Amino acid sequence: MNLKVNGQMRHCQAESDTPLLWILREDLGLTGTKFGCGAGQCGACTVHLDGEALRSCVMPVASLQGRSITTIEGLSPDRSHVLQQAWIEHQVPQCGYCQSGMLMAAAALLKTTPHPTDQQINAAMTNLCRCGTYPRVRAAIHAAASKLKPQSGKKGVKT
Ligand code: FES
Ligand code: FES
Repeated sequence: MNLKVNGQMRHCQAESDTPLLWILREDLGLTGTKFGCGAGQCGACTVHLDGEALRSCVMPVASLQGRSITTIEGLSPDRSHVLQQAWIEHQVPQCGYCQSGMLMAAAALLKTTPHPTDQQINAAMTNLCRCGTYPRVRAAIHAAASKLKPQSGKKGVKT
């Protein structure tokens, strides 16, 4: 089957119920997306599907023909995404394991809510971090949001 990943058509062979996460990591070599719980709970495996956050460990690949998938490797070509810059500035990661999922969830949030409140961040960012980086995640999202142009219409950042 063919999948559109990070703007490129990629071919893979898999059983139709194989979770997207397995295809990304094992077949396509996109190991930035992490395996955590495998049950849709922790968010380590978050990618974008047509611009929205998706937990790839519980998404059967057969349902994704013709849809656009973005992984952490496709968030920006050179780590220049406003969130990646804010993550570096605020030294957000500790062990780092959850952080690609955090970034993808945050990028999806800023697309729909370019200037989120703490409450909106808490509601949208349900990803788990065993290192407890939540305060720095929030600070970095606010920092990134402050660099976005004032809201015009519903558009946030590009992913
Ligand atoms: S690995 Fe997918 S939600 Fe935990
Ligand atoms: S930075 Fe270690 S799990 Fe989040």
